[in-house]
Amino acid sequence: MKLKIEKLIYEGWGIGHDEKGMAIFVKKSVPGDILEVKIIKEKKTYAEAVIKKIIKPSLQRIEPPCPYFNLCGGCEHQNIDYADQLKFKDEIFRETLERAGIKTEILPIIQPSEPFYYRNSIRFFLIEKEDVQKVFTRHNYLYADGLVEAESCLLQSEYSNKILKTIAKTLNSSDKKLGSLYQVKIREGKATGDFMVELITDSDTLPFENELKGVLKKMIKIKSLYHTISYGRSPQNIKRRMLSGSPIIYEKIGKYTFQISPESFFQTNSLGVKTLYNKIKEFTDVQMGETVLDLFCGTGTIGIYLSTLAKDVVGIELVQSAINDANANAKINNIKNCEFVCADTNKWLSKNKTVKFDKIIVDPPRAGLSKDLIKLLSSLDFSLLTYISCNPATFARDIKEFESCGLKLKKVQPLDMFPQTHHLECVGIISKKV
Ligand SMILES: C[S@@+](CC[C@H](N)C(=O)[O-])C[C@H]1O[C@@H](n2cnc3c(N)ncnc32)[C@H](O)[C@@H]1O
Repeated sequence: MKLKIEKLIYEGWGIGHDEKGMAIFVKKSVPGDILEVKIIKEKKTYAEAVIKKIIKPSLQRIEPPCPYFNLCGGCEHQNIDYADQLKFKDEIFRETLERAGIKTEILPIIQPSEPFYYRNSIRFFLIEKEDVQKVFTRHNYLYADGLVEAESCLLQSEYSNKILKTIAKTLNSSDKKLGSLYQVKIREGKATGDFMVELITDSDTLPFENELKGVLKKMIKIKSLYHTISYGRSPQNIKRRMLSGSPIIYEKIGKYTFQISPESFFQTNSLGVKTLYNKIKEFTDVQMGETVLDLFCGTGTIGIYLSTLAKDVVGIELVQSAINDANANAKINNIKNCEFVCADTNKWLSKNKTVKFDKIIVDPPRAGLSKDLIKLLSSLDFSLLTYISCNPATFARDIKEFESCGLKLKKVQPLDMFPQTHHLECVGIISKKV
């Protein structure tokens, strides 16, 4: 079927319409493309299709620099020049808020980092082919459990790619089977040059342990090497064993140093996070002696970044290791006015309904905030709430909920923290005064 792509929408889809007016969604398409597509999923009001042939490419279509782009699910927009990606993302963000009926000041999108080599964390799956050749793979975007062979990624640093090559070479230097070794995770401190490698198995034994330890110990930037056991390949059932080096690595943002342990969340784009945190600082505008509540605080980075003038900062986070990192981070940076508590945000706020903070920060996971939490937050005594989101759809939904509680989104800043992918970050400020 022939289809003209009219525009990009969220989640990396391009959209066109068939002759009956039915919306057809196509991944990896570019606005202006005329395509031969094949429908792979049909719903009542729309269909999903894949590109069979590009009949006439869009003027904005470029050759993707990554050789795996056409099948890899890691990114969607490498076939669009970066300046155009930014324009499209700006439009998508505006439309998401407009469609939700949110009227506010939307600032033009910011590019916080270089468009490639920005990721500080990545996972590659390992598989064994019939000839016992072991290869790294990434998720194939066409199939739910499909894989695509890929030995590198242009979004992570050159050194990460070198680590993958070294591991693959070591595994392929013998006919021994991969066994339980199924994944490698690499994390990196961009400013410090520290690397953490996790060799992940689904049982207690680590095949190739001595061989891998031997070669990886020679890579001097690897400061932390773990054997991670993920029973049933479940993220909830994990045990770690240090193979060599330190249990943590360090990253720097502005003048602050942060420690990162394997379980803790850390913003994926270290190069861009300074711009993001500066925007949060500018919007939140903490005044001398004010109190700050940093909800979903992770390793305490935002609270610490905003602590200079504050009287007190309290951070709340569910993951204990992130709280340990947060407390260590306060110490490393000689910060005395931050306290970090391990708790579920809803439960902690329900128990502390009468607390008064001048400024509140919320930075939830992609699912956003629950209705109950929004009600609870809206009932608190504060002057400004800063909402950081990595999902414009849940952000818009939550802003509507805040509006129904009588609050107002004063302004919002979209930032492209994840170039080449459909992901989008934003920082909004919400106040009680309508
Ligand atoms: C998007 S991250 C933000 C982390 C941090 N603000 C930063 O910039 O690095 C969201 C964090 O919320 C935490 N989290 C998830 N659910 C939570 C809950 N119910 N209560 C408290 N923290 C939670 C996650 O562990 C994660 O660290």
